[in-house]
Amino acid sequence: MTTQNPGLFIAFEGGDGAGKSTQAAALAAALESRGLTVLRTREPGGTPIGEKLRSLVLDHGHGHIDAHTEALIFAASRAAHASQVIRPALERGEIVLTDRYIDSSVAYQGAGRDLGTDAVRDINHWATSGLQPDLTVLLDVDPEVGRRRRTAGDAAEDRLESEADEFHARIRTAFLDLAAARPEHYLVLPARLPVEDLAARILERVEVLLPSPQGESMSVWDDLQGQPAVVDQLRQAAQGEGLTHAWLFTGPPGSGRSNAAKAFAAALNCDQEDVSRRGCGECAACLTILGETHSDVAFVRTEKVTITIDEARDLVSTAGNRPSSARWRIIVVEDADRMAERTTNVLLKAIEEPTPRTVWMLCAPSPPMSSSLSVPAAARWRCGFRPRPTSRRCW
Ligand SMILES: Nc1ncnc2c1ncn2[C@@H]1O[C@H](COP(=O)(O)OP(=O)(O)OP(=O)(O)O)[C@@H](O)[C@H]1O
Ligand SMILES: [Mg+2]
Ligand SMILES: [Zn+2]
Repeated sequence: MTTQNPGLFIAFEGGDGAGKSTQAAALAAALESRGLTVLRTREPGGTPIGEKLRSLVLDHGHGHIDAHTEALIFAASRAAHASQVIRPALERGEIVLTDRYIDSSVAYQGAGRDLGTDAVRDINHWATSGLQPDLTVLLDVDPEVGRRRRTAGDAAEDRLESEADEFHARIRTAFLDLAAARPEHYLVLPARLPVEDLAARILERVEVLLPSPQGESMSVWDDLQGQPAVVDQLRQAAQGEGLTHAWLFTGPPGSGRSNAAKAFAAALNCDQEDVSRRGCGECAACLTILGETHSDVAFVRTEKVTITIDEARDLVSTAGNRPSSARWRIIVVEDADRMAERTTNVLLKAIEEPTPRTVWMLCAPSPPMSSSLSVPAAARWRCGFRPRPTSRRCW
């Protein structure tokens, strides 16, 4: 069952020291940088009553706590968390990232403490009125590795962490069984991967689940799904980070290179004040650029033949004008490989001597685009579809 809410609910699960908190923080930062509202929370805890329960059940010094009591304290804390924190945030359309949720109880109390995974799952479903994550990121950790990570800084272990490795091995198996039973709701990753690799893989999966903003029309990036790294790079450039005056979009026909260039053009000239919303897809600038009628954005396309030298000269003189109304004058050259050498040289000369406020975007098939089109310094051909700034120089 999914949340049926406008928001998105993601749980991070895995053994102690798996990297849950690290990855939850990284994902929150990535989503927030896109202007999304993220609520980060953790279990046990997340509410004042929950934090009290957390210390009851995790701190040493409360004497013996039997397994049923422990399981019910976790479930009580979770009931408060689900109804007071998680559901309201999801109803507001926010993205909720929780560090642990029901699976941790099923694994630790159900399997680790031998209370039975079904019984523990059932009391937790009752406690949360069936609120389940849209996605659970399971960081699968070798108990030995987890212990080493936790104790690396000499941090004291809490009541559960200090259990024997055999307890942690049972927990690991229980987590994997939960994921295997509902694979479409899980992303299982080996916790030993580098932090950045894990973060990239998690973001890639989450991207597919992101709700379109508040039910508005789609942003210009929506057509580029499945290429999160590319979208990130272009969004940042549109916000002024790493924006240069000329870009190459390489990739075979159908790879999306033209769509990417168009989306980038829309984001550069989008009317939104808030830079994180640039490329909104709904303002006049975005709409006219997508419709190819924006006065400061030219699309150059050759159906059959080559771009003639006169056309190229026209382009260059257009490029020399300041934008009439928008932030940037943009020239998107599709099929930039279909040019005679002389024509290429006319264009390249213009690109090498950039006019302030003009951005060139050249689209071409996989590398090498054409032996005659030499690219200004610092460009590196890469396989597959990829936008590249052609120079480090920014006007
Ligand atoms: N992918 C990784 N590779 C190596 N070390 C990592 C990785 N991810 C996290 N760490 C380190 O391991 C330790 C535990 O990470 P973190 O606190 O994120 O784990 P956790 O799953 O939240 O642990 P806990 O269950 O104790 O809350 C930290 O010191 C962190 O810097
Ligand atoms: Mg943690
Ligand atoms: Zn816009």
